[in-house]
Amino acid sequence: MPYSIDQILRGNIPRVERLPPTAADPSVVPVSLRINGHTHDLQLEPRVSLLDALREFIGLTGTKKGCNQGACGACTVLINGERVNSCLTFAIMHQGQDITTIEGLGTPDDLHPLQAAFIEHDGYQCGYCTPGQICSAVAMLKEVEQGDASLITPSLGATNVELTDEEIRERMSGNVCRCGAYLGIVDSIRAVYEQQKGQ
Ligand code: FES
Ligand code: FES
Repeated sequence: MPYSIDQILRGNIPRVERLPPTAADPSVVPVSLRINGHTHDLQLEPRVSLLDALREFIGLTGTKKGCNQGACGACTVLINGERVNSCLTFAIMHQGQDITTIEGLGTPDDLHPLQAAFIEHDGYQCGYCTPGQICSAVAMLKEVEQGDASLITPSLGATNVELTDEEIRERMSGNVCRCGAYLGIVDSIRAVYEQQKGQ
């Protein structure tokens, strides 16, 4: 159906409804995913990425699609606590695992400390990269806590990694921000790191 100029200019074009595949469709298989503590039973083609499963089949649109090829980090989610680019992995590979998206980290009334810090320290502008930045930072802080080295950590055997601003930049380098809100992003992550260290 052709759209009016007004609809186009306002971006008011109805989303194409994807018809849910049926079990009778030979190209789909049952896939069960545990996301943010809830089980979702789906019928998916095995080639469906985890990102598309989240956004197009489950309606969790907090996870963003940027490059769709592993270069920007906008699609970062947590799988069993580790950060993963959801555009680069198939949904069917993650049955039985705990998947956490930005929607599962906190609520508007009870923000995750990193969500609160991003607001307090202006860690975003348009916000498109923000869900991926925050999911990535959650896992990154855990990596630091368990002593994982980065490319610039001076000693591989260090058990106590000091999270300098350079370390934050290096460890978050897989998450691109097109707005260039990097100063605020680093400030936000440093604030939560210092908060956790003080506990
Ligand atoms: S959308 Fe996955 S890395 Fe860019
Ligand atoms: S805040 Fe706009 S892309 Fe990062």
